[in-house]
Amino acid sequence: MKKDFLIFKRNKKLVYLDSAATTQKPESVINTISDYYKSYNSNVHRGMYPISEKATDNLEKVREKVARFINASPSEIVFTYGTTDSFNFIASVLESSGVISGSTKILLTISEHHANILPWQRISQKLTYLGLNKNFELKESSDYYDIFSYTLASNVTGVINSNPNINAKIKIIDAAQAIAHIPVDVKKLQCDFLAFSGHKAFSPSGTGVLYINSKWLDRLAPYRLGGGIVTKVTWDKAGLISYPHKFEAGTPNIEGIIGLGAGIDYITKISLVKIEEYETKLRSYLIEKLSAIKNITIFSPKDSKTKAIGVVSFSIDKIHPHDIAQVLGNHNICVRAGHHCAQLLHREVFKVPATVRVSLSIYNSFKDIDIFIDVLKKAIDIYQR
Ligand code: ALA
Repeated sequence: MKKDFLIFKRNKKLVYLDSAATTQKPESVINTISDYYKSYNSNVHRGMYPISEKATDNLEKVREKVARFINASPSEIVFTYGTTDSFNFIASVLESSGVISGSTKILLTISEHHANILPWQRISQKLTYLGLNKNFELKESSDYYDIFSYTLASNVTGVINSNPNINAKIKIIDAAQAIAHIPVDVKKLQCDFLAFSGHKAFSPSGTGVLYINSKWLDRLAPYRLGGGIVTKVTWDKAGLISYPHKFEAGTPNIEGIIGLGAGIDYITKISLVKIEEYETKLRSYLIEKLSAIKNITIFSPKDSKTKAIGVVSFSIDKIHPHDIAQVLGNHNICVRAGHHCAQLLHREVFKVPATVRVSLSIYNSFKDIDIFIDVLKKAIDIYQR
């Protein structure tokens, strides 16, 4: 799929293995944003003139597209500014709507990204973290929780948490890493809320989605207050319009959301089933090559029985992950080194402060992996000499 991405035409030697941080954008997405600015740049839901009507129509069509993409209804789709924003949104709104408080029993997992930890820490003093087994899969729990909020695919180990059997009243899913790699269906997942970002799905940054199950739409107060969500404002109060727009005060990221529509079209055209199939092969190849390296510890499942997306983290004895990433970077190979916003996982489970992370996408080839492995071996030679 490299041909669809201008960046690889302009930078022919680029080996981009950091798609868990953000994906590259296909030409179709860039053209869609450019066309908005060149042909009908205007605000939405406000102007009574053709270009604003077109912008509004296109933005609302994206809502329908996102809904089809995750098997929801358009009214259940709220545009946010990213997954972090979606989590702050839902935690705050559940609190301000009186659903949760300091004594709410919340179950997270030890592999959560900080975005799915900090907003809950602010509210509840009753957080529990589900641990992992030796294969980095979630352990079981027979306890009851008010909320279970978990990642569908880990941004560090890549493990897919398909159907954790947890007894909780409210189920919230972080689909940031899963959304561009495996089919996501909110009905099958039976969740109350689900969040993802556009930028990890070939779409612009600053775009996010929060799926709100219809049973919650009437019960929840808005997160942001301001223009575009009112019926009547008096001295001391305001009447609000209905969902989903009551959750979207202010001017949205219009060009970003319209670009998100093109990103979803791009994924749908290829099909997530094919994407998953291809990336699974790439991942197996990467694991095979990494496993042959001496003094390596791989913090991702090595057998194919555990379902995982193409995210693999590792460390090499006595070499700092940042040094490895730096040498790779000097060769135009992009990986991430650090704790990947998952400090608990690194400190409590891996017992290392940082790892190197390789993350794959549909534009990666087997040759990319060969180049990466060659340079990784060179880096190891340099530092272990
Ligand atoms: N959440 C992104 C990552 O894991 C930035 O790299």
